[in-house]
Amino acid sequence: MWSILLFCSDSDRCISLTKILSAVDRRVSIHNATSATQAVDVLDASAPTLAVVSDPQSAGRSLKVVSILHQRSPSVPLLVEVPAEHPMFGLQALLAGATDFLKQPVAPWEWQQRARCLLDAQRQKHVINQAVKSKVHRLLNAEEQLQPEDVAAILARANAFHDEATGRHERRTGQIAQLIAEGLGLPNAQCLLIRAAASLHDIGKIGIPDKVLHKSEQYQPEDRDIMSAHPRIGYDILKLSAAPMLRIGAKISLTHHERYDGGGYPEGLAGGAIPLSGRIVAVADAFESLTVRQLYRNSVLSVNETILYLDRLRGQHFDPDCVDALRAKIDAAARIVSNRA
Ligand SMILES: [Fe+2]
Ligand SMILES: [Fe+2]
Repeated sequence: MWSILLFCSDSDRCISLTKILSAVDRRVSIHNATSATQAVDVLDASAPTLAVVSDPQSAGRSLKVVSILHQRSPSVPLLVEVPAEHPMFGLQALLAGATDFLKQPVAPWEWQQRARCLLDAQRQKHVINQAVKSKVHRLLNAEEQLQPEDVAAILARANAFHDEATGRHERRTGQIAQLIAEGLGLPNAQCLLIRAAASLHDIGKIGIPDKVLHKSEQYQPEDRDIMSAHPRIGYDILKLSAAPMLRIGAKISLTHHERYDGGGYPEGLAGGAIPLSGRIVAVADAFESLTVRQLYRNSVLSVNETILYLDRLRGQHFDPDCVDALRAKIDAAARIVSNRA
């Protein structure tokens, strides 16, 4: 697999240099060329790891061969033997494309040492290139492309930096939404999608000014107006994605504050006009908020109190089927809200 192109116009010299270079590494094969044309043929045919140019009879021919080989294959390192009587020849060789030069007379060990260094460098480059190629291949492979779930996790974390409490709330709401979806008998894959998408339902709060989002006093009507923009902001963030999970996330963001009786916002949709995922998250969001967060209250509600509260609003604020589905999973839901990390 590793080879050296050896250009030498003198065949005896070719034989002796072949012996010297063969001793560098037994795995390396040597391909000889005695003319520029032959050198190009060998270059094309064997894709050598290293090219060596040794033509003591003609410095000009050496330079020409170096230039031809370099232009044809710039990635192949070129080692050139230069005559001692021309001090500038080494520089000219480098300018023509040589990687390194050796001044005559060159001892066998010098040939071997310099060739070994250049071969090792090429091998290392090859290893790195292979590793990069393989990584790029894996990244281009669908299995390793960024999954929508990863994007959701990144967005949720970004939102958590903006408002840590909302970040935790979103995660728990996603878990409870999954339970409700399971209680409704939805397929497992859809339940998982809803969980991931629901964890983005308040992503639009990223667009709410801190002075409103983190206000400690009770909200005034103008604060509520600003906050009520978050469903549409979230929708605008997610709507352009082609990934099903993020598209569901956009829908959930837009509709999680709609009410079953049509009294919600931003569209005032009612009943089945509200997407099921939005109705599910409306219940999950309320359950999490009432049991965990003291939103404008002095204390949180117990799980039982919360279920009674949701029951009272069946068919008004909440989809009755979603409330029932949560009730069917209430033990698991209680575990989620009892773990408030
Ligand atoms: Fe919300
Ligand atoms: Fe929420």
